[in-house]
Amino acid sequence: MIPNSIMSQDTFFITTAIDYTNSAPHIGHAYEKLLADVIARYQRSQGRPVYFLTGVDQHGQKVQQSAEREEITAQEFADRNTALFLEAWETLGVRYDGWAATTAPEHKAVVQAILQKLYDEGQIYKATHTGYYSVRQEQFLTDKERNEEGEFGSEWGEVEERTEENYYFKLSDHIDWLKQFVAGHPEFVFPSFRGKELVNALEKSDAIDLCITRPKSRLEWGIEIPFDTDFVTFVWFDALINYISFAGYLKAEVNPEASGLPDFETLWPANVHLIGKDIMIPAHAVYWPVMLHAIGFPDEAMPRLVVHGFWNDKRGAKLSKSEGNVIDPLSRSKRFGVDGLRYYLMASIATGRDADFSDERIEEAYSQDLAKNLGNLLNRSLNMPKRYRDRILKKDADYDDALNREIREAFEALPQAVAGAMESYQVHAALEEIWKCLTLCNQFVEQTAPWVLAKDESQSARLDAVLYHLAEAMVHTAFHIAPVMPETSQRMLVQLNYTFPGGFCVADLRWGMLPDGHELGEGKPLFPRLEPS
Ligand code: MSP
Repeated sequence: MIPNSIMSQDTFFITTAIDYTNSAPHIGHAYEKLLADVIARYQRSQGRPVYFLTGVDQHGQKVQQSAEREEITAQEFADRNTALFLEAWETLGVRYDGWAATTAPEHKAVVQAILQKLYDEGQIYKATHTGYYSVRQEQFLTDKERNEEGEFGSEWGEVEERTEENYYFKLSDHIDWLKQFVAGHPEFVFPSFRGKELVNALEKSDAIDLCITRPKSRLEWGIEIPFDTDFVTFVWFDALINYISFAGYLKAEVNPEASGLPDFETLWPANVHLIGKDIMIPAHAVYWPVMLHAIGFPDEAMPRLVVHGFWNDKRGAKLSKSEGNVIDPLSRSKRFGVDGLRYYLMASIATGRDADFSDERIEEAYSQDLAKNLGNLLNRSLNMPKRYRDRILKKDADYDDALNREIREAFEALPQAVAGAMESYQVHAALEEIWKCLTLCNQFVEQTAPWVLAKDESQSARLDAVLYHLAEAMVHTAFHIAPVMPETSQRMLVQLNYTFPGGFCVADLRWGMLPDGHELGEGKPLFPRLEPS
């Protein structure tokens, strides 16, 4: 079942958690998809082929229950919410290559083939269990889930006693392998402090098997078990498989007719499985590697988990529907522009850590970092050549000095600095590096005072050099901000009247791309004044 060339790393393959379709998209979903989008666009800008897979988790009890309440079918309910996710990602510029919707027949075929294989091999068995069940989390609970008072906390919602016959996956058979794998592969989980949490959790936990079915009598909305039609697949066993089913796993065997599925060999293993901290243990860091191992994937074919933190409200409280503090990404993109929101979400959190979402801080970032430090700088870089040089740049002005050199060297060092930050997915640190260069440029304008140089004929070559350096710096800036702010980057380039040739990537980036005699375009505010809210 494993292709020979499974270890291929031709393509940078990035996936995200697939979002539950029991609700509309909120800021947490948007953050994760945008972070993946930024990493994908950044990798493309490095000249690497990229495949970005995201999607929606459409099965499960909550979808079934919500649909019943509304007296529509579960599929209708899932489709309706799926449309909201599709629309939000379209609006926010999340440019994915593959869409994983778990009710797709291609996915179902792969899930069923895997279940059948594991069953045939004796890795799945039937058993009866009596215990406490969390309706909200759709799982049986053990004593470990009890809090200090010996009770199941409110995070588990309604907890009831149940006896049920189900199918179990022999997770326990693989726990020793997992412990060894994790110990030998510290890169499996990023950031490393989350990897340590996993090691601790594995040390403390007893190896128990995983219940992977639900009887149809209480849950119909799932993928049917191929060897017993009275049962459907437990939602995690279904959802996790999206990472391989939509990457083309078993395409030839079970989906020969399906078009649009990529070649698994070129994608797997995923370079990045981007997920939130809440779904690392046990789903992604225990069940998932064990499932892959049980199917027969070798250690080298395990994906990498990149675990991000949570956005909380401005007081640090968890965002939740019941608290009424959920943040709608589209309302913010309307007010601050898509790129205003993208910038804030990327600049104001360190990947792996939590942050508090605040409208005051997004306003501040918009007016300081974006409108003033970037927008105003671009405007000056276009208006001064318009005023003093009819918009025409002179490339090799017979003038150079330490100030010019400082600008040049800062931008020449920028790709390396950005790469240093992006290697560990720290988009905020990459933006800081770019904004350091913008601060230098703003200082450069004040120090060189082109409006004074323009009055003195003997400073003509110096003025040309200053104007050229500013415009060239703006072209470089447009390149570097593109992964985070693709629209702004484009608008900058239009105003600069410059286009990167097709297939342009970081290796082509060099100082002096604007040709001698280049005519700049018209300046327009990149970030207009905000309407009072
Ligand atoms: N459907 C499962 C994932 C299955 S992956 C095989 C799920 N869905 S979810 O809709 O609840 O969450 C989707 C992603 O959004 C998760 O990675 C989760 O961590 C992330 N976030 C949900 N709320 C968040 C914040 N408040 N902040 C940041 N990310 C958050 O879990």
